[in-house]
Amino acid sequence: MKKISKKYIGVFDSGFGGLTILQGIVKALPQYDYMYLGDTARVPYGTRSTDVIYEFTRQAIDFFFQNGCTLVIFACNTASSDALRKIQKDYLPKKYPGKRVLGVLIPAAEEAAAQTVNSRVGVIATEATVTSNAFVREVTKLNPRISVFQSACPLLVPIIEAGEYNSIIVDLMLKKYLRPLTAKKIDTLILGCTHYGIIKLKIKKVVGKKVTIISESQVVPKKLKDYLARHPEIEKTLGKGRKRIFYSTDLTEKFDRLGSIFFGQKIKAKKALLS
Ligand code: DGL
Repeated sequence: MKKISKKYIGVFDSGFGGLTILQGIVKALPQYDYMYLGDTARVPYGTRSTDVIYEFTRQAIDFFFQNGCTLVIFACNTASSDALRKIQKDYLPKKYPGKRVLGVLIPAAEEAAAQTVNSRVGVIATEATVTSNAFVREVTKLNPRISVFQSACPLLVPIIEAGEYNSIIVDLMLKKYLRPLTAKKIDTLILGCTHYGIIKLKIKKVVGKKVTIISESQVVPKKLKDYLARHPEIEKTLGKGRKRIFYSTDLTEKFDRLGSIFFGQKIKAKKALLS
């Protein structure tokens, strides 16, 4: 009898940010096998055009599905804001029918719409995510009475990827990026970029205790658990050997060192070639 090989859950980001999401997922669902890919050779995505982001994302999808995944989570808002819909609608049905890709943006929008009391929600994200208006679209779809205020933070991802997430530069930039949102009297703030999880405490300090912070590393694991319960046809394909494999497109000592901090456990990456 042919042995059926069990599959990985793939988790994708342009860099380290998605490791904070993977950490949350692994904590909630430790039994599964996971494969992480960070496109560190080409990070940041957030300052690039939609066409380029789509092309990088499509290459990542090929990598995951050709290397044993049945389900992929885009742990990247920039990829979830525009490319995801095109991948789900056009690319998957043609090239990988039966495989699934999920994003992080809609779960965060749902949580924000549920949490806000004064119907004023703030979003901090990359330029590409803000320009896509995806958070505005998704939150107001759920409740048209909610006002959504966005602030693009182009400098945060490069600073975080450089390992400078504890530095005073982050505090200065956060004041600049968050002030326009607090001036709008928001009561809920979406961290609309997975890299921002690592500076959550600094963000909290600037916006104050009264603002509820929506962090995808807390929201996404719950949504994934629900998804797997509702989709036994996908769940039954997944390996349950607690394997974790890490890939990056640029193999550096920094990826393992910083990646271990973001993931909360020691990691050792292998090189991935995307084409
Ligand atoms: N961490 C990603 C996000 O959630 C992308 C950051 C970037 O590459 O600019 O948007």
